[in-house]
Amino acid sequence: MKKVLVAGGAGFIGSHLCEFLLSKGCHVTCVDNFITGQKKNIAGIKSPNFKFVEADITQSGSWSEGQFEEIYNLASPASPIDFEKIPLKILECSSLGHRNLLELARKNDARILFASTSEVYGDPEVHPQRESYFGNVNTVGIRGCYDEAKRFGEALSMAYHRQFGTKIRLIRIFNTYGPRMRETDGRIIPNFFMQGLNGESLTIYGEGQQTRSFCYVADMCEGMYALVQSEETRPVNIGNPTELTVLEMAETVKKLTGNTKPFAYKPLPENDPKMRRPDIARAKDVLKWQPRVSLEQGLDATLKYFKSQL
Ligand SMILES: NC(=O)c1ccc[n+]([C@@H]2O[C@H](COP(=O)([O-])OP(=O)(O)OC[C@H]3O[C@@H](n4cnc5c(N)ncnc54)[C@H](O)[C@@H]3O)[C@@H](O)[C@H]2O)c1
Repeated sequence: MKKVLVAGGAGFIGSHLCEFLLSKGCHVTCVDNFITGQKKNIAGIKSPNFKFVEADITQSGSWSEGQFEEIYNLASPASPIDFEKIPLKILECSSLGHRNLLELARKNDARILFASTSEVYGDPEVHPQRESYFGNVNTVGIRGCYDEAKRFGEALSMAYHRQFGTKIRLIRIFNTYGPRMRETDGRIIPNFFMQGLNGESLTIYGEGQQTRSFCYVADMCEGMYALVQSEETRPVNIGNPTELTVLEMAETVKKLTGNTKPFAYKPLPENDPKMRRPDIARAKDVLKWQPRVSLEQGLDATLKYFKSQL
């Protein structure tokens, strides 16, 4: 039985990944400090092959002495609300925290996946975004703490790979959605669903003409797993290339939730990306991966979840 560590496993994507890895027959140790994760996300995991350790990856502890064959590092706050509230924690996760995990991977000769992000492309001047694009990031802007942390995490991973031969895997995750997103997370999907279901106006930033591409969480877990099983050490975009304007998504969620209020328009936040769509040619070619869950199916499952949380 393969021994796997999931850092950030009590979060939205992490909790789905823990379940996915258990279904693949792995022994899963989940480390999380609940800074943005939720106990309820992992409360339903009853498998004897699942172990939870409450710990902060920026500090060493008993978890950092375990034996693992694969390490998935998802531990980082990821919502724009967190960029304002806890920027130092965000910077520490992908620097100190990721270095602790890289050390563990080096000692264990384990594969280690770093959950990077489409945010490394910043407000992109290239569309769709392919991995060879270096990005357009404002280091001193409000999103800088997150974007630069993830860029540093990629660079740190590469340094371990070059210096010690560590088996790194770099996934650039594009907007992912599904059940277990925090209701008060501030990200577009929970915002729209909670406002829609509570009978409030859906908030549109700017005119809503900015685009996003939404990947269902089950497809994301498949992509992460496929990347770790592969020999690919270059960054790989994982996301759904179906692109929508924010206004189109708002209209869809408004209809799904039966909301009748007019939209509330607010100014666009600083450095908000104007367009976002992954070029997934590398994932298709190297991993034979592509998303399978349609937007309709994904939004339906997400609607059921948010309804159950009211
Ligand atoms: N959801 C997306 O659309 C998206 C897009 C791009 C990248 N990502 C990345 O994927 C990962 C998971 O994102 P998510 O949406 O599930 O966010 P999330 O906030 O739900 O999950 C992050 C988890 O990490 C934990 N964590 C944070 N700092 C920690 C620390 N120092 N020690 C231990 N645990 C810690 C949190 O408590 C939480 O459970 C993040 O690294 C994020 O940057 C997500």
